[in-house]
Amino acid sequence: MTALTNRRVAVVTGGSRGIGAAICRRLAADGLSVHLVYRDADDAAKRVATEIEAEGGEVFVHRADVAEETEVRTLIGGILRQSGAIHVLVNNAGIIDDRLLALTKLAQWERVLKVNLTGPWLLSRAVLPTMLEQSWGRIINISSNSVRIPGAGQTAYAASKGGLEALTRGLAMEVGRKGIRINTVAPGRVRTDMTDPVSAQLGGNEGPRWGVPEDLSGMVAFLAGDEADYIQGQTFTVDGGRLVMRPRGGKGA
Ligand SMILES: NC(=O)c1ccc[n+]([C@@H]2O[C@H](COP(=O)([O-])OP(=O)(O)OC[C@H]3O[C@@H](n4cnc5c(N)ncnc54)[C@H](OP(=O)(O)O)[C@@H]3O)[C@@H](O)[C@H]2O)c1
Repeated sequence: MTALTNRRVAVVTGGSRGIGAAICRRLAADGLSVHLVYRDADDAAKRVATEIEAEGGEVFVHRADVAEETEVRTLIGGILRQSGAIHVLVNNAGIIDDRLLALTKLAQWERVLKVNLTGPWLLSRAVLPTMLEQSWGRIINISSNSVRIPGAGQTAYAASKGGLEALTRGLAMEVGRKGIRINTVAPGRVRTDMTDPVSAQLGGNEGPRWGVPEDLSGMVAFLAGDEADYIQGQTFTVDGGRLVMRPRGGKGA
């Protein structure tokens, strides 16, 4: 809690749509003051904020590209001036740009890495001084079960998310004794704008059902709270069982 608000303060990147929007709604419903970060979708971000406020929640909306160091610094500085603290960071913003490696340009590989891996690194670095000062913090990184069962064309995406899981463990080693918990949630297939263009190719009738964003937000809310105090540096797959039920023989999900 802070002098400026009697709620815990959460920063959720990629909060305008899909899984991030569900996380914002859930954390606000749990009584946290939510700072929703998005990049382009002004109307969608405002819609999520309006929904949260209609339910009595507290939300602030910020535009920033998580892959840009100066934008991240300005973002976190502004939130700290506004709210006086940051207790929870959810690194959810992400992009997918599936292409066979042989057909991928360096700039395309680098953009995926920059948004999905450098972004969470920048955000984590920016919030750590405050969390260390508070001796309390939660960082929740959203990876993907593509780390374990990548589809063809997902080398960049899977590498970025695998790096994010390694970042989780590395940072847990560094600051785990200071009251900060860093964990990863790895979703399976969730119906959002990200998966809309590829859902027909991925199929849908075999294996477990497709997830909805709200299937993920409960796990994030748990990891963001006091009850997760003894959980550190872990990755939790939330995929309806796709990983264990996948067909064997190298065909992937
Ligand atoms: N959907 C799935 O099946 C699935 C499965 C596994 C993992 N995931 C992971 O879950 C997370 C959310 O996925 P989703 O399906 O909800 O995605 P989505 O519907 O495409 O939404 C992506 C969100 O990230 C934001 N974003 C993208 N690039 C950004 C940047 N450079 N700076 C700031 N914000 C940025 C977008 O902002 P704008 O709205 O402003 O563009 C949007 O809010 C991602 O990390 C994704 O990799 C998703």
